[in-house]
Amino acid sequence: MVIDTSAINRRNHALADDDEVWLFGYGSLIFKADFPYLERRGAHIQGWARRFWQGSHDHRGTPESPGRVVTLTAAPGQHCHGVAYRIRGAVFAHLDHREKNGYLRLDTTLHLTGGETVAGLLYVATADNPAFLGPAPAADIARQIAAAHGPSGANLDYLLDLAAALRALGTRDTHIEQLLAELSAGV
Ligand code: SIN
Repeated sequence: MVIDTSAINRRNHALADDDEVWLFGYGSLIFKADFPYLERRGAHIQGWARRFWQGSHDHRGTPESPGRVVTLTAAPGQHCHGVAYRIRGAVFAHLDHREKNGYLRLDTTLHLTGGETVAGLLYVATADNPAFLGPAPAADIARQIAAAHGPSGANLDYLLDLAAALRALGTRDTHIEQLLAELSAGV
């Protein structure tokens, strides 16, 4: 199901005139920075876990054969590692379009590598959005990712690029490592 959350995001936070905003990226925003930024830092957020639970009908799949991309699920006590971008408010016009298939901007606290804490935003696709696919056995998720392709490329490349980017940041994600193990086992 292709939806468009960009108008909701514009209404909730009118950012176009803001000089600088911190954005937390935990998925493709880590490995595909197709937008200008003032600064990029390693960072984590608390109380969330990354999961391949969001359907992608517009980037890494099609309406007929959706792929799976990451979103966040509440996970008290856990950390999710990613990157923090310091960007101009005007950049959100591009980002809202890119993340329009179900992602809403939420306020968050970013813990920057080095110890500084800053307020910012992230994009999350919650369970009530029509493109949400939710949990499934790791083998089923891996099989779906291996099969899906969309206008932004193979769904498998999204998974592999994200895994490589997280390793480059010095972190590993058990959910992602589990999917890679399923793929190695030949799902
Ligand atoms: C993000 O990267 O922070 C959001 C999800 C995605 O675009 O993959």
